[in-house]
Amino acid sequence: MERVDAGPDVLIRPMERDDVDTVLSIESRVFTTPWQADTFLSLIGRPSSELWVMEHSVAGIVAYAVLWCILDQAELANIAVRSEYRGQGFASRLLERVLQIAEGRGIETIYLEVRASNTQALELYERFGFSQVGVRERYYDKPKEDALVMRLVLL
Ligand SMILES: CC(C)(COP(=O)(O)OP(=O)(O)OC[C@H]1O[C@@H](n2cnc3c(N)ncnc32)[C@H](O)[C@@H]1OP(=O)(O)O)[C@@H](O)C(=O)NCCC(=O)NCCS
Repeated sequence: MERVDAGPDVLIRPMERDDVDTVLSIESRVFTTPWQADTFLSLIGRPSSELWVMEHSVAGIVAYAVLWCILDQAELANIAVRSEYRGQGFASRLLERVLQIAEGRGIETIYLEVRASNTQALELYERFGFSQVGVRERYYDKPKEDALVMRLVLL
């Protein structure tokens, strides 16, 4: 299995089926409409999906990201960091790795949707060069909110 050293205390590796319970415990705390186990389980091992976790030597899984790839386009479908571990660059390191993976697969454009009020995520994406290309009005539930559509051109 491919493992990538992401610093002294963390490594980035593909998500495995045994990781899903831990991922769900983060997912359910972070999102008001969390993905269910079946979603993660059905994506693991699919050639069109990239699911990666960041594992801390002491704390275990602290972050994860999911990318869906279609031909030369991809969607960053999910990224989250356990709340206690935010603000230390973990999402940045994970996203950097995911973008490298996308590039390696020949992806040219990555899209994502983000809640309009999610300033932490917006700042992260803007630092990586994503820019807003559209709005999906009232896209999210709990609470109802617009999604900003962002795009990054890799090539
Ligand atoms: C958005 C999210 C993934 C960011 O995770 P994170 O690990 O805190 O992100 P980072 O640490 O890489 O970056 C956050 C900030 O920490 C700063 N930072 C980076 N490395 C740092 C370090 N070593 N020490 C201190 N701060 C650091 C960054 O500069 C960044 O600052 P900014 O927000 O002012 O630009 C996280 O807040 C989260 O999981 N949110 C809930 C889920 C979510 O909204 N996901 C996105 C859905 S679209």
